[in-house]
Amino acid sequence: MTDQTSNVTEVKAESRIFPPPAPFAASATISGMDAYYALCKQAEDDYEGFWANLARENLHWHKPFTKTLDESTAPLYKWFEDGLLNVSYNCLDVNLQKGHGDKVAVIFEADGGEVTKVTYKELHHKVCQFANGLKSLGVGKGDRVVIYMPMSVEGVVAMQACARIGATHSVVFGGFSAKSLQERIVDVGAVAVITADEQVRGGKHLPLKAIVDEALALGDCEKVRNVVIYKRTGGAINVLEGRDIWMHDLVANQSDVCEPEWVSAEHPLFILYTSGSTGKPKGVQHSSGGYLLWAILTMKWTFDIKPADVFWCTADIGWVTGHTYITYGPLAVGATEIVFEGVPTFPNAGRFWNMIEKHKATIFYTAPTAIRSLIKAADADANVHPSKYDLSSLRLLGSVGEPINPEAWMWYYNNIGRGNCPIVDTFWQTETGGHMMTPLPGATPLVPGSCTLPLPGIMAAIVDETGHDLPNGQGGILVVKRPWPSMIRTIWGDEERFKKSYFPEEFGGKVYLAGDGAIRNKDTGYFTITGRIDDVLNVSGHRMGTMEIESALVANPLVAEAAVVGKPDDTTGEAICAFVVLKRSRPTGDEAKQIATELRNWVAKEIGPIAKPKEIRFGDNLPKTRSGKIMRRLLRVLAKGETITQDISTLENPAILEQLKQPL
Ligand code: WT7
Repeated sequence: MTDQTSNVTEVKAESRIFPPPAPFAASATISGMDAYYALCKQAEDDYEGFWANLARENLHWHKPFTKTLDESTAPLYKWFEDGLLNVSYNCLDVNLQKGHGDKVAVIFEADGGEVTKVTYKELHHKVCQFANGLKSLGVGKGDRVVIYMPMSVEGVVAMQACARIGATHSVVFGGFSAKSLQERIVDVGAVAVITADEQVRGGKHLPLKAIVDEALALGDCEKVRNVVIYKRTGGAINVLEGRDIWMHDLVANQSDVCEPEWVSAEHPLFILYTSGSTGKPKGVQHSSGGYLLWAILTMKWTFDIKPADVFWCTADIGWVTGHTYITYGPLAVGATEIVFEGVPTFPNAGRFWNMIEKHKATIFYTAPTAIRSLIKAADADANVHPSKYDLSSLRLLGSVGEPINPEAWMWYYNNIGRGNCPIVDTFWQTETGGHMMTPLPGATPLVPGSCTLPLPGIMAAIVDETGHDLPNGQGGILVVKRPWPSMIRTIWGDEERFKKSYFPEEFGGKVYLAGDGAIRNKDTGYFTITGRIDDVLNVSGHRMGTMEIESALVANPLVAEAAVVGKPDDTTGEAICAFVVLKRSRPTGDEAKQIATELRNWVAKEIGPIAKPKEIRFGDNLPKTRSGKIMRRLLRVLAKGETITQDISTLENPAILEQLKQPL
């Protein structure tokens, strides 16, 4: 743990308060704070009973569970374990039975603007056919399947098809490199990879299948028997006879009936890799029953989802937000959702506003980084200013992935919500499966920049380094004191790391450590997240481990040593700043710039473009203590361009600071 945030004692006071609009509150699922407190009380009075009732009411069980929570192997908690269900059945068949077969499930808009609408009945057919196709390849319950696909109906179908046959999917974001993809394929032991020929972003075609080929050629992927390819662009690719098969050929003669595989509620639905504080990404393993329950409840509570809503979450299926709020949550509640391919700035920075207008989106959920970049774009070009679009269909806005600064919040509230739409600032993590702290749109008075209060049943608290509760107004470490149904089950293949990372002994081994610092307002008790307390950065809402980037840098033959820190950035929240020592002498001038470019591209190749350092500085050495430990807190100050005022008496080589002060 670093010294970054644990001693935060105040955050800038924010006094603006926005109560829920009366018409919204009147028809909301959770209407008014009394209703919220009543639910919290139910959870406090009878924790297991609270969850058991919700699980019975909200999920279709093939065989009901008899035990709600098993804590005997804590922190390996088990929820509803002897209950049998199928996630895809709960997302699709249940809606057909309710007579919603002809309702549009997905409105898909491609990068070029082409729109495809898929009803629940059609989606069910596609999923069943693809599930049967996977079965014909010998994929079955418990197998792992890596999905490396563009945003598409087929991406959602692939995930749902895995769920239908009890295969555990692991989606890898299409921006990751061949090396990152290979590491995940190997770690998860995939038997198949589902991909596309290419992906399209901002009018550009980018390879996917070629990267899969490259990943598999890196070795240790012998378990992969098949690669299934969705034809997105028709671009030229290699098809390896016997291993590779086109998706359309695979489903061509498959029945559109596929009996679901009934699995235990604890069956792993998916494994999703995320960055931790060491070099190796963690395979976060999620369950089926508890996970889906929370996806459904948060759709109802946080998003107040109603039958007439058109829900739009702009995330990619490669991240957890895309799992819970694209592939599973919206479908499990029978909503109509928008899925988009591309980027918010193509064909122009009005893409989001145009799509909201065109498809009459009612709920819009995006990341602060996107909002901030669209504010800049709207300031620069009046034609893409939201005032040019009819956004009157909107009734609710959401934010996710990183803290939203009050300025961006106000702009979002006034320009997109036109002062009528509550904003739900949802704090959660890959590990939590769904929202943890968020305003309830029909209940919670909003304060810009605060994720306000935990959802009912989520026992969030702020503690000090020894695990003791801190009073409101004092910053500390965010923990969750009781297990909840959608929590991470383990790190795939590494139970020890799971325990150490999330349930450390210093805190008694039973409280969940989120990895974030937080502070509660003295008067309202509202939570504000103050940032990660480990060596994890948040760049554009994406989690990046500093050690992962450092390992990539030192793998370059030129590099002797590297230290990576975050620095505040107007658009991306945090930006990656790398301090590098080369094996040769320290470069200066144009040569330094040229090597920096080379190293940035190297990192893109090693991890993916999202991990490219924004800035690189070269030194003869790095600031270290006498015992050789890199003093990152000093590097953070230098990266910000500030003067060091901290104690540097333990620093062995103070002269180095002068060298590292200047950007290239
Ligand atoms: C980390 C989790 C949540 C799904 C997408 C990101 C930060 C997330 C907020 C928020 C302040 C936030 C935290 C967290 N974070 N949402 N509303 N306010 N910080 O999931 O990649 O697992 O990242 O994102 O630091 O720990 P993730």
